[in-house]
Amino acid sequence: MGKNIIETYSAEDTKSLAEKLATILKPGDVLTLEGDLGAGKTTFTKGIATGLGINRTLSSPTFTIVKEYEGTIPLYHMDVYRLEGSDEDIGFDEYFHGDGIAVVEWAQFIEDYLPPERLNISIKYLDEESRVIEFEPVGEHFQKVVKAIIG
Ligand SMILES: Nc1ncnc2c1ncn2[C@@H]1O[C@H](COP(=O)(O)OP(=O)(O)OP(=O)(O)O)[C@@H](O)[C@H]1O
Ligand SMILES: [Mg+2]
Repeated sequence: MGKNIIETYSAEDTKSLAEKLATILKPGDVLTLEGDLGAGKTTFTKGIATGLGINRTLSSPTFTIVKEYEGTIPLYHMDVYRLEGSDEDIGFDEYFHGDGIAVVEWAQFIEDYLPPERLNISIKYLDEESRVIEFEPVGEHFQKVVKAIIG
């Protein structure tokens, strides 16, 4: 299997890719987002929110760690940047085995708490408006999901 890579050329591009992805996700799904500051993790999550029919403005949860949104499926937007180097469990099980979709920015900082089956997404800065987005599906469900969005 080749690499599951897509390039986007604007924030809108990234949002519509995420929106398309959101429509085929299921309750309990976990998405991890890795990428430098300003890569586009929150932008991607905004697209997920739109795809789940969430109209509320999604803001960066940096100071709250988790924000919940009501959609066709609930969205748990997590930014665990502040948990780097700590092993604090903020009740991850409820988010990762709940009725909603969990999207985790800086997921590498809570590696030990992540469920094995998940969709790992990495976003790399190419230039001002361009990004390389790579999908690494773990498990059969996410392999199908990735196939459906990038063929
Ligand atoms: N192709 C693109 N995809 C995503 N974002 C883009 C793209 N081109 C430009 N941008 C801009 O890059 C910025 C990405 O910011 P964003 O808050 O999404 O990053 P982040 O990865 O969540 O950062 P942080 O680590 O601080 O949480 C936004 O201002 C967005 O408009
Ligand atoms: Mg962010």
